[in-house]
Amino acid sequence: MINNCKAVEVAKNIYWVGAVDWSLRNFHGYETSRGSSYNAYLILDEKITLIDTAKIDFKDELLARISSVVDPAKIDVIVSSHVEPDHSGALREVAGIAKDAEIITTNPNGLKGLTARYGNLNYKPVKAGDEISIGARTLQFVPTPMLHWPDSMVTYCPEEKILFSNDAFGEHLATSMRFDDENNLEVILHEAKKYYANILMPFGKQAQAALKALGNLEIKMIATGHGVIWRKNIEKILDCYKIWSSGAVNERVVVVFDSMWHSTEIIAQTIVEAFAARKIPAAYYDVKFTPLSEIVTDIFTSKYLAVGSPTIHNQMMPTIAQFLCYIKGLRPLNHKAFAFGSYGWGGQSVAQVEDELKAAGFEIILDKIKIANLPTKDQLDEITEKILALSL
Ligand code: FEO
Repeated sequence: MINNCKAVEVAKNIYWVGAVDWSLRNFHGYETSRGSSYNAYLILDEKITLIDTAKIDFKDELLARISSVVDPAKIDVIVSSHVEPDHSGALREVAGIAKDAEIITTNPNGLKGLTARYGNLNYKPVKAGDEISIGARTLQFVPTPMLHWPDSMVTYCPEEKILFSNDAFGEHLATSMRFDDENNLEVILHEAKKYYANILMPFGKQAQAALKALGNLEIKMIATGHGVIWRKNIEKILDCYKIWSSGAVNERVVVVFDSMWHSTEIIAQTIVEAFAARKIPAAYYDVKFTPLSEIVTDIFTSKYLAVGSPTIHNQMMPTIAQFLCYIKGLRPLNHKAFAFGSYGWGGQSVAQVEDELKAAGFEIILDKIKIANLPTKDQLDEITEKILALSL
C-alpha cells in the first residue's frame, strides 16, 4: 500500500523504521485499546543492519521507512530477535530484497522457528556471548529464553549503549512520537504493566535471569519492540520489571464476577464493601464490561481475588470459565482467593470456580459463598462478618 512514511533517527545513524498499528484492538486475545507498534531499527554502519522487521501487513510501511534513508537491497545483516510474526513477519520479503543479508537468530530455537516459518534463508545462528562487528559498532547477543518464547533474544550495542530489547520493556501503545519523554508516562507505565501481566507474568524467573544478565550493562536507551523507546525513564522501567518479576503483591482485592439476575452481583458488592471496611481497597469487575486483559493487569499486583458466578446448565457462566482459563495460564504468584455465587437449584458453579482457582495455584482463604435465589440481608451480613474476621 502506498504511504509517505519516513525513518526517525533515534541516535546518530540509527533509525526507527517500524510500523504503527493504530487500529489494533486484539493481539491474540489481548485487548489492545491503544493500538501498538512493531519497532524495527536500522543501523547505518559499514554493514547496514536491520534489527527486526514487522507484522507482514505492515511490510510496505517498514520498507518505506527503510527506503527513506537507504536502499533496502543494501542491508547486510538482519537481526531476528524473536520468531513471533509481529517481529519476523516481513523477514522473507526483506530477505528477498536484501539478497546477501545474513539473518542472525538464536541457536537452536530461533533457527528452528524461522526455518519452519520462512524456509531456508541465509541464517547465522548465535549463542550467548557471541558478538559481531558491523564497522564502528559491535552487536552483542544475549538470549533471553522464555521471555517470552524459547528463541527470544536482546541485542546490546556497547558503543552506543543501546539495548534493543524486543518484547521486553515494551507495551502495546500506538504513538506518533517515539520516545518515552514525548508521551504520557502514566499511560506508558500502565500499558507496560498490562503487557507484562498479559504476556510475561508466567515468566518471572526468566525475567529475573534476563535482568541479571543485563545488570552490568550501561544502558542509555532501551529500543523496544513495541511502544515507546526508553531514554529518560530507563531506571523506572527496569525497577518496574524488578518488582513485577518478583511477584510482589499489594493489599488489594479484585472482585470478578458475572451475574444473571443480580444475586451474584449483590454478593460482589457486599465483598467490596467488607474489604473496604477493613481498609483494603477493592476493584469490582463485571466480566461483561471489562476486557480480561485489563482485569488480569489489576489482579497481577493485588493479593486477593474473589470470583463469582451463578449456575447455568449445571456449570459456571462461560464468561467466568473463560476468565479462569486465562488466569490459570498466566500462573499468578502469591495470590489468595475465594469463590462465590448464587443459584436457583443445582448450584454447582461455586465449587467449580473454587476448583479452578486451586488449579491456578491460588490459596483458598474463605469457604465457598453460595446463596440460593436472592441473598437476604442476614446472609449479606454474614458474608461481611466472615470477611471482617478473615485472618489475612
Ligand atoms: Fe511482540 Fe512475542 O512478539
